[in-house]
Amino acid sequence: MVSVILFSVPLVTHYYLSKYESSSSLGLNAMQNTLDALVDISTVNAEDLKIRIKEMLRIKASVSTELRELEERRGRLQKEAAAASAKAESVKAEYTRATAELQRLRVSADQARLAQLEAIRRDSPELAPPNQILPSRPPPIIPSLHPSSEVHCRMHSCFDHSRCSLTSGFPIYFYDPDIYSPLASAEIDGFLKTTLRQTLSYNAHLTRNPNEACLYLVLIGEAFPSNKNPSSTTEPYRLLLNETAIKQLPFWGGDGRNHVLLNLARRELSVGSGDAFLGTSTGRAMIAQSTFKLQQFRPGFDVITPPALGPPGGDVWAECAPMAPARRKYLMSFQGSKSPATDPNRDNDKQLIEALQKTAKDSPTSDVFFLQFECDPSVERRALLPIGDWALCGTDRSRRSVLRDSTFVLILAPADHTYASTALLQARLYEALRSGAIPVILGGDRTRLPYDEVLDWRRATLSLPKARVTELHFLLRALSDADLLTFRRQGRLLWERYMSSLQASVDTLIAVIRTRLNIPGRPVAPIMGTPAFNESYYPTKVEPPAVDSEPEETLGPLEAPYPSPAYRRNYSMILLQGYEMWNEWGEPFTIYPQLPWDPPVTSEARFMGSAAGFRPIGAGAGGSGKEFSEALGGDRPREQFTIVILTYEREAVLAAALARLRGLPYLNKVVVVWNGVTGPSSSTSWPESGAPVAVVRTQRNSLNNRFLPYHLIETEAVLCVDDDAHLRHDEIVFAFRVWREHRDRIVGFPGRYHAWDLNFNNGFLYNSNYSCELSMVLTGAAFVHRYYLWAYWRLLPAAVRDYVDEYMNCEDIAMNFLVSHITRKPPVKVTSRWTFRCPGCPVTLSADETHFHERHKCIQFFSQVMGYTPLLSTQYRADSVLFKTRIPHDKQKCFKFI
Ligand SMILES: *[C@@H]1O[C@H](CO)[C@@H](O)[C@H](O)[C@H]1NC(C)=O
Ligand SMILES: *[C@@H]1O[C@H](CO)[C@@H](O)[C@H](O)[C@H]1NC(C)=O
Ligand SMILES: *[C@@H]1O[C@H](CO)[C@@H](O)[C@H](O)[C@H]1NC(C)=O
Ligand SMILES: *[C@@H]1O[C@H](CO)[C@@H](O)[C@H](O)[C@H]1NC(C)=O
Repeated sequence: MVSVILFSVPLVTHYYLSKYESSSSLGLNAMQNTLDALVDISTVNAEDLKIRIKEMLRIKASVSTELRELEERRGRLQKEAAAASAKAESVKAEYTRATAELQRLRVSADQARLAQLEAIRRDSPELAPPNQILPSRPPPIIPSLHPSSEVHCRMHSCFDHSRCSLTSGFPIYFYDPDIYSPLASAEIDGFLKTTLRQTLSYNAHLTRNPNEACLYLVLIGEAFPSNKNPSSTTEPYRLLLNETAIKQLPFWGGDGRNHVLLNLARRELSVGSGDAFLGTSTGRAMIAQSTFKLQQFRPGFDVITPPALGPPGGDVWAECAPMAPARRKYLMSFQGSKSPATDPNRDNDKQLIEALQKTAKDSPTSDVFFLQFECDPSVERRALLPIGDWALCGTDRSRRSVLRDSTFVLILAPADHTYASTALLQARLYEALRSGAIPVILGGDRTRLPYDEVLDWRRATLSLPKARVTELHFLLRALSDADLLTFRRQGRLLWERYMSSLQASVDTLIAVIRTRLNIPGRPVAPIMGTPAFNESYYPTKVEPPAVDSEPEETLGPLEAPYPSPAYRRNYSMILLQGYEMWNEWGEPFTIYPQLPWDPPVTSEARFMGSAAGFRPIGAGAGGSGKEFSEALGGDRPREQFTIVILTYEREAVLAAALARLRGLPYLNKVVVVWNGVTGPSSSTSWPESGAPVAVVRTQRNSLNNRFLPYHLIETEAVLCVDDDAHLRHDEIVFAFRVWREHRDRIVGFPGRYHAWDLNFNNGFLYNSNYSCELSMVLTGAAFVHRYYLWAYWRLLPAAVRDYVDEYMNCEDIAMNFLVSHITRKPPVKVTSRWTFRCPGCPVTLSADETHFHERHKCIQFFSQVMGYTPLLSTQYRADSVLFKTRIPHDKQKCFKFI
């Protein structure tokens, strides 16, 4: 409007000026006359006046006609000008787009050239693993050792490595306990037989072919008294092995090489030493049981197992006590009674007991001790007293309630100091860890704990020589709450993973021996998804409409799909990270294609010898803007990510989501998890997303399906998104770059936190209010490592997933619990600029309230299952390095907007 006025005013003025000039050119006189006439109007006659008025009217008419014409012409010109400038605009935009596209193509071409060059340079093909070398015959019969040499058996002298090649996969043969029962005194316990057979059938190493086996497992049974006379001390209460039966095992090979004789203590814990093998000759076989004499145990060869006190398998969390508060009612407890000391070999624990009682009585503090050195005979259900060890007092139930109230529990090394371990000691350890009482083992310098060649018990127990008894109280009080909780948490971790159930215990036994040989486990099984479309059919793809909201910015090259290298650490994993695998984040029972903890090469190695695959910024010179956007940089080789979209029968929403991905750099594949009864319709066409799209149908509608480790996922980085999440490309690429530096964490957008329930004081509530602290990043838009998809199904208790299914909610909270539990780190939130859900989507208030209510409950239930709330808070958010930095005009930032 303003421009129209500005434009027309000068035109009109010009017209009048020119008119004036042209009239003056007629002669100054005429002008003068007219003026005179106006001055003396009365002297002019009426006729003249009329003529003059007419004349004036005529002039006016002609002027307005001319004006109109000019106005029209002006309008025309204006329109033309507008059209021309619009065209110029569009051409300019087209030019920008084309330049950007060209830039992108150039970057992509450069990358492709680089990749090709790398492929050529790597001229030596990778060695394919050799065929599995498996023995084809049973072990040949060779003469056995002299029984007196058996005690010197070690892996190098008594184990036949030739049956267990590196690539063999560690096959194990299990003698059917119904047929081979090497007990002289009794039948093997029926429960053990059935459970063990079933448990082993889940173990990937089990083979039915004894000829190819590396290891032979023989179930002996459990410690069982051969003599039920409690007063006899000459005849130990122990199970008698039928040596003849053992030596007649079909694959014994004369000396029992590669055999493991497994003796699981279960029922008669208070009885005897629980040693099945004392005094018998077992050739070159390994022995796995809970009871060992010091001189009998062969380190690195025999294995100390926990007693089989737990269920066959499955969830065990309900057995455990919550970990908080750090300090419980009793500082320390002990319940036990000792057999009358008649054996000169036995320790004189009398002084020890006196010292303990004195500590408890004379305590200058308010610390409460619960010490019971005599069993109440009216409650005592076990008539038999142990040989040289402390019997358990009380019922299982009463013991459990005391343990749940104890910060520490005292475990006394067997009074008979020729023992390194007894079933009773192991049973005490088992029940202590289960209830979260931190074991304090007096005489622990002599004893050995289960699987101690791989498990670090120093982080879960306090092990002291008996001489420290007087310093005990001081020591226990010196520990901080944080340390108490760390001990307790670690104890529970070891208990849950390696000894809680028979399955855990047997899997661990096998993994321990496999670890010794550095044979990699079997690869973890991916889920083979049911494709929603058959091989010959896929919906036609259409070019999606251009998305206006995407800023014109080159974010990286569009490359051909490049899967992350898999299984590159089969033989170094155990050596370099075996400790962490057993004691921290890992799981030693299987191998994964990649782990978030795989180490990077050193900085200069990226330029000296190990450069293949790396994409340093500015080829190593660094930089921002263009150089930055062209290269991934960082300390890891190039990689891509997979997007996993969970959708429920919303084809239009899904199509829009796929369309938005067009042109997204580093995208390897889109996996659509189709949660729904009916599959996607085959008639519609889907937008081209620029990367392969795989659609899998699920067995049933479950939010847990979002975390199924599908075989289709070939990259370490997995971006989980809801179908209605709107993420811009720069945000996705930035989050990917951040994730590459925080591979073991959840890296994503929507932050939430857990807030203490101030009203009822009994747990945490879910909260999505504005806050400067967060503890969860929702997996509706977050990067996670592919490993966690397996961990979600293998490490998380099934009760958590069942809860998610029951309420159709909280799978994202569960994933946050899992990752924080494994890493003890909070998630990473990136950038602020973004909108999560479709802005127009209606959310009813009541639905919202139910949703929140359920999520409160989820947090509380998950915490109960895990014994604590693993979430950790963070006040940190990742923005790109030059975001909001003042930089010179000729320099560029990392991203234009984030
Ligand atoms: C020991 O096993 C052998 C062979 O299986 C059997 O013949 C013998 O009777 C068994 N001895 C005892 C005492 O059970
Ligand atoms: C594949 O699926 C399409 C569409 O659902 C169907 O028309 C076609 O017959 C199927 N082909 C085969 C080989 O099953
Ligand atoms: C490592 O083990 C996996 C799984 O068994 C196998 O596929 C892969 O080829 C092995 N890699 C090497 C380098 O041996
Ligand atoms: C969020 O904040 C509002 C007002 O600040 C408050 O009324 C509401 O209870 C808060 N919600 C939660 C879940 O804490």
